[in-house]
Amino acid sequence: MRAATSSSEVKSGGIALSNLQKRYGSAVAVSDVSLSISPGEFISLLGPSGSGKTTTLMMIAGFEMPDSGQVLLDGNDITRLPAHRRELGVIFQNYALFPHMTVAENVAYPLRMRRMAKSDVESRLRRILDQVHLGALASRYPHQMSGGQQQRVAIARALVFDPPVLLLDEPLGALDKKLRQHLRNEIKTLHKEVGKTMIYVTHDQDEALAMSDRVAVMHEGRIRQVSAPQDIYRKPTDLFVAGFVGEVNLIPAKIASGKLRSLAGETLPAPQWRGADGSATLCVRPEHLHLFKGVAGASEGIQGCLAAVTFVGDATVYEFRSQSGLQLTSKVLNVSAEQKLDLGDLCVASWAPNDATVLTE
Ligand SMILES: Nc1ncnc2c1ncn2[C@@H]1O[C@H](COP(=O)(O)OP(=O)(O)O)[C@@H](O)[C@H]1O
Ligand SMILES: [Mg+2]
Repeated sequence: MRAATSSSEVKSGGIALSNLQKRYGSAVAVSDVSLSISPGEFISLLGPSGSGKTTTLMMIAGFEMPDSGQVLLDGNDITRLPAHRRELGVIFQNYALFPHMTVAENVAYPLRMRRMAKSDVESRLRRILDQVHLGALASRYPHQMSGGQQQRVAIARALVFDPPVLLLDEPLGALDKKLRQHLRNEIKTLHKEVGKTMIYVTHDQDEALAMSDRVAVMHEGRIRQVSAPQDIYRKPTDLFVAGFVGEVNLIPAKIASGKLRSLAGETLPAPQWRGADGSATLCVRPEHLHLFKGVAGASEGIQGCLAAVTFVGDATVYEFRSQSGLQLTSKVLNVSAEQKLDLGDLCVASWAPNDATVLTE
């Protein structure tokens, strides 16, 4: 392993975390976190509040020291390097602009700290402000700007010294939903333009799925799954991930001779199973669960009746109750106004075998 980087070396922005561990007193905040992030990748750390996302990010930034484990930047061990010598761009949860400084002064601050020549400061400042569409607002103060504009100032300030990696901790947390959606597209566009590695902390599943090349789902200080967004949603490897990302029906099942059956003994559609017999949970997304009227002739699926119907605008949500008391949800896009089922109708809940995931933990 090479020694810590010198600041003149060109960095490509690859990050490797190896067995990171952090406790506060007796409480474990981060446990055995290992993760390899490619130069230029957009990766999200996604998890509920308290799952260790910020602590992990702060150990990458150098504001927290791990109890054990390593942080590598482009193969160099930076675990014990102080934050200001890592030269990583950081955007904190509450973006902490200096209220008494203009936009230009806020953004130029990291360059002044580095004692950059005035003419260089000017040219860099102009370039980055144009990039985030703030050129016209350079002399405003933070309180004269909208939340979205302030957030862009924070991004510009983090990018102005050209760091190889940008660390973002819930940067859209304080904004309303419409603005969040708009700004996440802007951040994504900026990511394509600047090509920096971005590590993005969020508790918002939609945000993580929409923005990321890969998503690392965290729970109780550990990474439970790291995959592309489609695989996190379609192929969860873990019950926590299945339940945390999107809506899911969890159906208790028994496996015997490779066949999955409900606890009431019904045959359940499932992908081919080559593992051992035993207990399992079948995960089926509401949009994959279909309700068929009547119970005659159904060879696979769960029998029950329609318990509730809720119109939610773009879709209708059907609540199904099985004869054994299992509650399942089916979601159907309202492409037409037709509704085929009425409350109390007997029906069979079924799905395509490959739309189900079998988990046996
Ligand atoms: N400075 C601290 N002192 C004590 N406990 C902390 C500190 N920072 C974080 N924790 C605890 O560590 C756990 C992980 O926190 P954090 O990384 O902030 O989670 P997240 O960002 O996912 O919400 C939580 O249980 C939190 O209470
Ligand atoms: Mg946090």
